[in-house]
Amino acid sequence: DNSKIKKLIEKRAEARLGGGEKRIESQHKKGKMTARERIDMLLDDGSFEEFDMFVTHRTHSFGMQKNVFLSDGVVTGRGTIDGRIVFVYAQDFTVFGGSLSETYAQKICKIMDYAMKVGAPVIGLNDSGGARIQEGVRSLAGYAEIFQRNIMASGVVPQISAIMGPCAGGAVYSPALTDFIIMTEANSYMFVTGPKVVQTVTGEVISTENLGGASVHSTKSGVSHFLAKDDEECLLLTRKLMSYLPSNNMEDPPMLPPSDSFDRLGDVLNDLIPEDPNKPYNMLDVIHEIADDHEFFEVQRNYAQNIIVGFAHFNGRSVGIIANNPMNLAGVLDINASRKAARFVRFCDCFNIPLVTLVDVPGFLPGSNQEYGGIILHGAKLLFAYGEATVPKITVTLRKSYGGAHDVMSCKQLRGDLNYAWPSAEIAVMGAKGAVEVLEGRAIAKIEDEEERAKYAQKKEDEYVEEFANPYQAAQYGYIDDVIEPRNTRFRIIRALEALANKKEVNPPKKHSNIPL
Ligand code: COA
Repeated sequence: DNSKIKKLIEKRAEARLGGGEKRIESQHKKGKMTARERIDMLLDDGSFEEFDMFVTHRTHSFGMQKNVFLSDGVVTGRGTIDGRIVFVYAQDFTVFGGSLSETYAQKICKIMDYAMKVGAPVIGLNDSGGARIQEGVRSLAGYAEIFQRNIMASGVVPQISAIMGPCAGGAVYSPALTDFIIMTEANSYMFVTGPKVVQTVTGEVISTENLGGASVHSTKSGVSHFLAKDDEECLLLTRKLMSYLPSNNMEDPPMLPPSDSFDRLGDVLNDLIPEDPNKPYNMLDVIHEIADDHEFFEVQRNYAQNIIVGFAHFNGRSVGIIANNPMNLAGVLDINASRKAARFVRFCDCFNIPLVTLVDVPGFLPGSNQEYGGIILHGAKLLFAYGEATVPKITVTLRKSYGGAHDVMSCKQLRGDLNYAWPSAEIAVMGAKGAVEVLEGRAIAKIEDEEERAKYAQKKEDEYVEEFANPYQAAQYGYIDDVIEPRNTRFRIIRALEALANKKEVNPPKKHSNIPL
């Protein structure tokens, strides 16, 4: 009886229309794609299989029984990215503004449970007016069901949240619990309370964009990891990010076929470090020079720019790079940089991605702002993250590595596996000027003649530089495994990664650690 098949086809077509032509048109006018268009662009062609297309809400309040849409405002299912299984949900703004009902939450929970069962990533495309007002607390319960699953999935399967429209109130917390947030420039915003509530409660007048737009979260709060100009770029970025990640914590990241020669020398690196130790150079040049195909996928590019984090491949192997950036605040560690890097280190450690740390750090940023803000605890996060990580850890010290910051930046005693230094490295308690002030301050002050005084101070600084501003003290004690020529950095890292590929290190059994939060 073909009429039954016809009915199925009609029902599918109805579901695919979401909230109807008019609302789809309005979505397009805003420069946004619909939920299903987004899924099509995200996944490999033809790989999507939808779940729960015929689910509807069960609410009778506010005449809702007459207002029913198939799929109920969220499209869920499975598909592949570069041939690997992922589970996806896309909130459909054309149905009740993408707002979350009880059955909608159940649909999301179902794909999250599947993802955990089979060890596959979860990708959420967010575009929603928040809790469905007509459903009251059932909607809040629905969010909490999702949050609990986000928490259980954390560190088991990668979770990625794209924010492609509104995301406000309780709705922000599911993305916040996931590993990466990508926001679109024109149409997305995230906040716990919107501009109207802010004005009522505090009197502050602020626009949606300035309160929680993509730019704010990419530069000021650090909530967002990537900024995309539109839906298309957002979805392509998500695919790209996936290429560096394994499907779950029991797998290694996918090996790419090597596309760059492993022994390519980086001759420019031999002349990169300026004569004057206070002159900056661009750490990104170093990263691009040593990575496969000069390619670096930077995370949180516009936030806490004194530290650089992101993914690269070395001879086809995926690694996480953490590097101080002398171009910004001389590469010091501060609160934001420590938090940014700590979270990245922990992500990589969860998912078996080796860490390559490039060090040029003059110390911590001094000042009451930093101390009152708790730099002691935030700096400890990065220290803790490195010390706890059991993935292969390779450190290359390019120039400065001073004081406490030396310890924090993946030093030997934090179970660094291979620690290399360039001949330009200065591994010491502090810089020459500071050291001479502490050690010789009194003696210097006693010298009355100004010229003599300067000469004496300079002599002491030169002595200090001669003795301490080099990698050989550290190498003498075995804290540095080898001093290497800068141009050899790429193949030394590749060899180190090969040597460490089967590294097994386990931390003592415990419920969980108590990282200083
Ligand atoms: N619950 C139920 N329906 C909702 C909703 C919600 N939380 N948010 C939006 N909708 C519905 C609207 O009633 C409208 O329905 P219609 O198409 O049948 O007219 C549709 O979604 C689109 O909303 P609209 O307000 O026209 O879109 P917009 O782009 O102008 O504004 C928002 C989007 C999200 C800013 C706005 O809808 C809003 O403020 N929603 C409430 C947000 C909120 O406070 N949620 C609770 C937080 S936990």
